Amino acid sequence: MGDATQAQMEPYSRHVLVCTGNFCSPDRRGRQIYSLLAELLEQEGLLFGPQRVKRGETPCLGVCSNGPIVVVYPEGTWYSEVTPALLERIVIEHLKHGNPIEEAIFHRL
Ligand code: FES
Repeated sequence: MGDATQAQMEPYSRHVLVCTGNFCSPDRRGRQIYSLLAELLEQEGLLFGPQRVKRGETPCLGVCSNGPIVVVYPEGTWYSEVTPALLERIVIEHLKHGNPIEEAIFHRL
């Protein structure tokens, strides 16, 4: 503890992973969703502070159909066919207000 070489990180509330691979969604739609996620998190004030949401992209989440696939932790809430409009709902309703979009969830941890 207190070691200058220790990795450090600010607290955060949730972690969102977006599949940017080509098998679950063609035409780079996963990449578009990943880029839009950054904009929406900033717009909703979720990039800093106690409600901070971390994001990450991955080449595959092991689903490989009906993408783009997005998963929210720590709940382990999996969303499929994430359009820009659905992503906006996920950010505002789930990440900001804690209410998952039930009809868009296909799996839970
Ligand atoms: S390529 Fe997206 S889940 Fe496998």
